[in-house]
Amino acid sequence: MPETLKNLPIESIINLYKTSEELLLVLDAEKNPIFLNKSAKNLFGDIKKITEIEHFFSFNVCILDREKFFDYNPIQEILNFNTLFSAETLFQLDSNLYRNLNIRSFSVQNKKIIILSDVTEKIQNISLKSLLAETEKAIEKLEKENKEFSELKEKAQTLAIRTGLINKVSNKIRDGFDIEEIIQTAVEEISKTLGVSQGFYAEILNNKELSVKHVWAAEKKEYIKVNKIYPDKDALLKNSLENKVSGTSTVIIDNNTGDSRPKLITPIIYNNEVLGILSFLHAASKKHWHTEEISLIEGIASQLASAINQAKLFNELEEQKSDLEKALLELKQAQTQLIQSEKMASLGQLVAGVAHEINTPIGSIKSNNDIFIKCIQKIQTSPTEEEMKNYSEILDDTLKVNSEAIKRINSIVKALKNFARLDEAEYKETDIHEGIKSTLMLINHEIKGRIQVIEEFDNLPFINCYPNQLNQVFMNILINACQSIKKDGAIKIKTEKFADKIKILISDTGKGIPEKHLEHIFDPGFTTKGVGIGTGLGLSICYQIIQKHKGTIKAENNPDQGSTFIIELPVK
Ligand SMILES: Nc1ncnc2c1ncn2[C@@H]1O[C@H](COP(=O)(O)OP(=O)(O)O)[C@@H](O)[C@H]1O
Ligand SMILES: [Mg+2]
Repeated sequence: MPETLKNLPIESIINLYKTSEELLLVLDAEKNPIFLNKSAKNLFGDIKKITEIEHFFSFNVCILDREKFFDYNPIQEILNFNTLFSAETLFQLDSNLYRNLNIRSFSVQNKKIIILSDVTEKIQNISLKSLLAETEKAIEKLEKENKEFSELKEKAQTLAIRTGLINKVSNKIRDGFDIEEIIQTAVEEISKTLGVSQGFYAEILNNKELSVKHVWAAEKKEYIKVNKIYPDKDALLKNSLENKVSGTSTVIIDNNTGDSRPKLITPIIYNNEVLGILSFLHAASKKHWHTEEISLIEGIASQLASAINQAKLFNELEEQKSDLEKALLELKQAQTQLIQSEKMASLGQLVAGVAHEINTPIGSIKSNNDIFIKCIQKIQTSPTEEEMKNYSEILDDTLKVNSEAIKRINSIVKALKNFARLDEAEYKETDIHEGIKSTLMLINHEIKGRIQVIEEFDNLPFINCYPNQLNQVFMNILINACQSIKKDGAIKIKTEKFADKIKILISDTGKGIPEKHLEHIFDPGFTTKGVGIGTGLGLSICYQIIQKHKGTIKAENNPDQGSTFIIELPVK
């Protein structure tokens, strides 16, 4: 505009601005005002010299370079500049009157034209707007920060609650394997922390029914243990099973009951198998389940899942343990039975042998009785002196035979007694040789006529032992030795004395023991004699007895023929 005005005559400019809202001042060559339009007069009054208003101006926004910014007064600038000048200035008449003026000046025909337009409203509008916008921005920022802060606070609180809850449940889990207690704690603590109306845990039974076990009733502030199958199991199951794979929780409102409280159902899943569900009914005042609450419950559910699984494994282990204990007991019973049967077998052998041994002398006594009767009958028929002498000789001989037979029976009975030591089963000082001899006498029927027995006895001390048990060892080994000799052969029994132990070696000239069997012959049940003949227990019992006496027993094959059993026993 000033560019176009510049080319107009002064009068035209004055005319143009006479009634304008913009302020017009015209200064003469001496820079004294010669014209002020109405608007200018309104603001400045009827001024004669420009200096009267000069000090009311100050730069607001100016196009000058920065260094000069504070020192210059726009009016002075106008007076100094002959060229076009344009700036924005602040005009302050008194403390209340502030105007933002846009100031332009130029020279026309030696005169200075000053046009001022009041831009106060515009500027204030702009600054108000920008202030408003800035404030809004600040508020927005503050609100955002506030929200973030309260979110953070909430998160911290939830985290604290969550940590507390999880700690309680984990402590329970660590404390032991009582899964009922763990579940109870979880249901109770979740219910208390989240302030729900009701919470429960239900186990999923094999038939897919839900068995509600742990119920926390908030109204009663107590934990009640029930054991019922949940009535609306289908809806619940459907929900929990549908979420089986994803493992997520479901919120449902049970329309059947008309209860508007949202119910949260969280499945407890281990290895894709739903073990049970946690269900919580929100307090009446709450209409929604918060994501944080759901994720908290899900966290606990996953802890419970591994605890339940652990408890399951533990129970299985316990079951296996008791199964094993039962099996062990049965095994022990079977072993006792077997030992008993081996005892019966050796007893049978013993009785057969003894019966045989006793039968022979009894047989001769019987037939001698016939002779007695015949002799006595003859004597009663008044025989001749010659006949009488003959009969009494017969009687004499018969009596001798009888007393031999009775002696034999006696010695067998004595050997039997000695062997069994029924009267003295206790631990005592014993003559080992006596035991060996008695045993030999009792198995005489096995030996007689085919096996030569060689005794090489050292001068042994008495040793402390259970004599009847050691006799059983001798019997087992000697019978095995007899059985290993098919037809004829020999058994050598050798005893040796050492400083603190004695050694008994029983060798036979039998068939020997195959090398691969040597390490098994002492195993219970190992036999090469076929079912019904051998029990395979004889040597295992010998092994146990010698072990009980703190001695050793071993077998080896002889270089030439047969095998040798070597027993070592401590003297004390
Ligand atoms: N003197 C021996 N000579 C050869 N083999 C023997 C002898 N003693 C034991 N054995 C072997 O050891 C096995 C186990 O013996 P044992 O425990 O007494 O059971 P059983 O006599 O009932 O078979 C016998 O079946 C036999 O094969
Ligand atoms: Mg045997």
